[in-house]
Amino acid sequence: MSSNEINWENLRIKAKEVAKMAYAPYSNFPVGAAGLTDSGEIVTGCNVENASIGLTLCAECGMISELHKRKAGKLIAAVASNPEGEALAPCGRCRQLLIEAGGKELIVDGPGGPKSIVDLLIDPFTVDDLKDRDG
Ligand code: THU
Repeated sequence: MSSNEINWENLRIKAKEVAKMAYAPYSNFPVGAAGLTDSGEIVTGCNVENASIGLTLCAECGMISELHKRKAGKLIAAVASNPEGEALAPCGRCRQLLIEAGGKELIVDGPGGPKSIVDLLIDPFTVDDLKDRDG
């Protein structure tokens, strides 16, 4: 599916709404994520922080957990947003998680509008790089 066939407005609204459920008392930076799958489903997640700080779960982690839990297929479009509805750039770790959940065709919204995941994560390390290993 190409970027202009995706209902970005709907995904942004979902991400904005779920950002309001975030547990982010340490950073005071709530984030919601919403993704559209190749089966037409929408999966969402919010960030969950922890007193140990380093254990913080990003919104995209929760969204990808829901993707697997619901067997919702492959991500084709994703957005992370603050509660004001402003699209955010996903962090580096989440770019790596996103490419595994959506492949190189995934399109990700952000402050500059939707972009291909491979423009956000150049020369990615993926499951394909593991294929040549013996054993
Ligand atoms: N955060 C996300 O949920 N997703 C990202 O891609 C960037 C960062 C969260 C983690 C932390 O709870 C807060 O934003 C501030 O970094």
